[in-house]
Amino acid sequence: TNKARIDYLHRFRQLNDKDLTILIDTFSKEDLMYAKSIAMAIKESYYGRDIYIRGLIELTNYCQCNCLYCGIRSGNTKAERYRIMPDEVFKCCEKGYELGFRTFVIQGGEDPWYTDDKLVPMIQKIRNNYPDCAITLSLGERSRTSYEKLYDAGANRYLLRHETGDASHYRKLHSPGQELADRLTHLKILKSIGYQIGTGFMVGSPGQTPESLVKDLSILKELNPEMVGIGPFVPHHESVFKACPPGRVDLTQFMLALIRIMLPSALIPATTSLGTVDVKGREKGVLSGANVIMPNLSPMNVRNKYLLYDNKAYTGSEAAESLENLRKDMELIGHQVVVHRGDFIAIREGS
Ligand code: 5AD
Repeated sequence: TNKARIDYLHRFRQLNDKDLTILIDTFSKEDLMYAKSIAMAIKESYYGRDIYIRGLIELTNYCQCNCLYCGIRSGNTKAERYRIMPDEVFKCCEKGYELGFRTFVIQGGEDPWYTDDKLVPMIQKIRNNYPDCAITLSLGERSRTSYEKLYDAGANRYLLRHETGDASHYRKLHSPGQELADRLTHLKILKSIGYQIGTGFMVGSPGQTPESLVKDLSILKELNPEMVGIGPFVPHHESVFKACPPGRVDLTQFMLALIRIMLPSALIPATTSLGTVDVKGREKGVLSGANVIMPNLSPMNVRNKYLLYDNKAYTGSEAAESLENLRKDMELIGHQVVVHRGDFIAIREGS
């Protein structure tokens, strides 16, 4: 039964592909409830009911990639492009620190304007002024030397989703020349340099199957990342997939729970995309095992421009200024937002 499959996964932190496929393909409401209850207990044993917050600074929506799902793809001539200047990024950090953020996530499209010569001093300045904060980068694929320079400047973590664990599906989501194997090589390089790495995938992207989701999970097992970000695919009206349906909320919850069970001490955000497809999405994510939320700390005048998908939430509790709302939302579901760097808790093999 699926309950037995979930129990096996809980006990051994892995499950053969066939049973995982059946589980993902056929889980019932009761199976979801059961997986969530185990995921919640595991999360509590490592992190209690603390919710770590990350201030998300959306550096640039220029992007040289043309990923078929994405609203800021280079082929979208309608997107109004912007760049935040390094000085302004620092101001976002100042404001974020005041608000209680101890991790800053600097995310952007793959924008060659941000050379190492521009990024290194920016990161150094944040590092020197906020020695108690973590600096997370999410800037797509760069060179090994660039990763090294940014790490030496003071960055600690790097987010780079693998998007799908199936190489041929990866090609269907991206433009020619973009390969899953390369993405995985980048993640391994980042890890070897010393970054805490985050990867993840979209749930319900066009062409996804239970089999490809199983491959997503095996990649997580193989890479053992400190952070795992997943959220539903949401169509963008100027993308190739504009007519495709969004990913399912219940499947996202189930995958979150399975990931928490497989990687017990991972840092797992309840993502903005989950909050976009469902008003209670973030709560549902947290109650499925997520323990991180990433409110928007970008300058106000660009918040409506970093649109990876339609209806992206950036107001209300998604906004860093509304942390009080978020605190209340989390208290209502028995969690507390904490002022904390929120580092990964390493667990010993076999424990
Ligand atoms: N729907 C949901 N998530 C998306 N992303 C990009 N486009 C979309 C979309 N249309 C996700 C990708 C990327 C992250 C920053 O945002 O997984 O890695």
